[in-house]
This record gives sequence, structure tokens and C-alpha cells, in this order.
Amino acid sequence: MREHAPGCRVLAVVKANAYGHGIVTAARSLAADAFAVARLDEALALREAGIDARIVLLEGVQDAGELEVAAAQGLEPFVCDDRQLALLERWRGARTFRVWLKIDSGMGRLGFRPAEVRRAAARLAGCAGVAQPPLLATHLAESEARGNAHTRAQLACFAEATTGLPGERSIANSAGLIAWPEARADWVRPGIMLYGISPFPDSTGAALGLRPVMRFETRVIAVKDLAAGDRVGYGGAWAATGPARIAIAAAGYGDGYPRAAVNGTPVLVKGRPGALAGRVSMDMIAIDVSGRDDVAAGDPVQLWGPELPIERVAAAAGTIAYELACRVSRRVPHQLA
Ligand SMILES: Cc1ncc(COP(=O)(O)O)c(C=O)c1O
Repeated sequence: MREHAPGCRVLAVVKANAYGHGIVTAARSLAADAFAVARLDEALALREAGIDARIVLLEGVQDAGELEVAAAQGLEPFVCDDRQLALLERWRGARTFRVWLKIDSGMGRLGFRPAEVRRAAARLAGCAGVAQPPLLATHLAESEARGNAHTRAQLACFAEATTGLPGERSIANSAGLIAWPEARADWVRPGIMLYGISPFPDSTGAALGLRPVMRFETRVIAVKDLAAGDRVGYGGAWAATGPARIAIAAAGYGDGYPRAAVNGTPVLVKGRPGALAGRVSMDMIAIDVSGRDDVAAGDPVQLWGPELPIERVAAAAGTIAYELACRVSRRVPHQLA
């Protein structure tokens, strides 16, 4: 990550349980300059684990009670709208907040519109409880599309809205910092790439020099030989066209394996490629291992991981790797390699 954005400070995004990797484990493993989470509870999980690094709240605080907690825990809220600004104006506590002024340069989600930025900055400058100057941040909506006109417009919009304002800048997520060097600014905000996953739909982490850290594995619990016409799973969405062998593996959508994965989605059985056969059940999948006589109950199955890019599985399920990583469910035993 540091090689991709030399000289920048790194605000490591560990929200959503570090994209499913374990927020505390991730924070302890990453040499970041600060951590970013979406919500207060996530910041508290880090503090409870004894992590005393800087922590930024990307959605800011939602009420005065949250502001109190943020103060007590030394958190740095994004300030996205007048409601959050007013909370800071009313703050009478002893603690001073470092805050990040969020600007909506074209994401259309949170943040002050460009025309409102100077007024918001002036109000923040008048807040006794705010360390000066605030940091300035925006978020890109299409940074994974290289050379994209909307991203160019967002960069211009942010530059114009913040011209002359003091304060460190932060613009780029993973795709932004790789594909848009001009967006690196003072602080980069990578999430997905920290976990070795590509932010681009058409590449893998490995192709970008990243190393995937999640290994989603299970094992074979049955092997069956089928004859032509035998159906497999709900709806009979797969049927043998001739003699076939199917391995049943103990993982399903109840574990976070995507139900939308189609016939043929790659699965590694004992290190060799097999193909998903039929619908994903809650607890099981079937894998076509026809022609192999080396497969037996107990054999290891990799659903994704260093040897089977999560990006390939995501593509076969019509989604993005972010979603798959995030939604590995709690019943899956998580262990550190
Ligand atoms: C405001 C903000 N910054 C940075 C990120 C990190 O993005 P990525 O995981 O694509 O690097 C996110 C993730 O959604 C985000 O919401």
C-alpha cells in the first residue's frame, strides 16, 4: 500500500469488521497513520481492544450523546451537514475535536455541497471545541473507471471548493489512489486493497501486487456418483448429462457463500479446480468433480483465497468482492493463519 502512494499518510479503512477480516485483528496488523470506521460502535470495539491510534468516524456523530463518547474516546468525526455542525457549535466540553469537513463533490451521499463549503468552514472556525484547521475530505464515486470524466469533474470540484482553505486533504480510496495519482493528496483512505483485493472489476489483487489475506475454506462431507439425468440440489438447477461425480461441501449462503453464484463458479477441491453444480443451499454446495478419483469426504475445499481469487467468485455471482468479504457469516469459525 505504501508503495502505491509514497509519501502519503494512510487512513486505513477498517469498517464493516475490516471488510469481514476482523476489525481488531486488522487494526493490530496494519501500520496505518489512523483508522477509519463508519460508526461509533466500531470505534469503541477498537478502543476496547486497547488500540489507541487515531480513529476517524466517516459518518460523523449522530447526536449529542455520540459526540460525548467521541470526545471521551478521542475520536475524529467527519462533519457532513448542518446538523452535525450544530452539535459541535453547542459543544461545551473540555475536549477539542480534530474534525474532517466532508464535501460532496459528486458522490451524492454525505457532505456539504460545494457552494456551502466556505460557510461551513467559517462556522467550524468559530467553534471553540474544534481544532483548527479542520481536515478537508471528499469521496470518489467512479474512481475504478480509469480516465473517467465524472472523477475528473469531482477532482476539479473539490479543488475549487477548497481553494485557499487551510487544512490537510483526503480524496482517494483504493481505486482512486492507484488510478488517479493526482487524487492522493495528504491522506489516502484505502480499504479493500489493504486486504489484498482489487478495487477494479477487471483485475485481481495479485495482478496489482497485492496479497489476499482471507482464505474461505471448508471440506467435502460426501461424494456421490451420478447417472445421466440425476438432478442436484433445489430446483434441479443442475443435472448430470452422463456419468458424473459430485462433491458436497459444507458451506452455503448461511456461511456467506453467495446464493447468486451460477453453475460453473470455480471452487478448489484439494487444490484443483471444480465447478459449482446447482443452487447454493443454506449449508451446502455441490461441486462437479467428474473424472476425478482423488476426492473423498474430509478433503479441503477453498471457496476463495490466495489460490482462488475472490474477484472471480464475485464475478460469477454478479457482485463485487467487497460484498463477499463483508458477509462471511458469524457461524464460520474465524482463525488467524
Ligand atoms: C468515505 C470512504 N473512504 C474510503 C473508503 C475505502 O474504499 P475502498 O475500500 O474502495 O478503498 C470507503 C469505503 O467504502 C469510504 O466510504
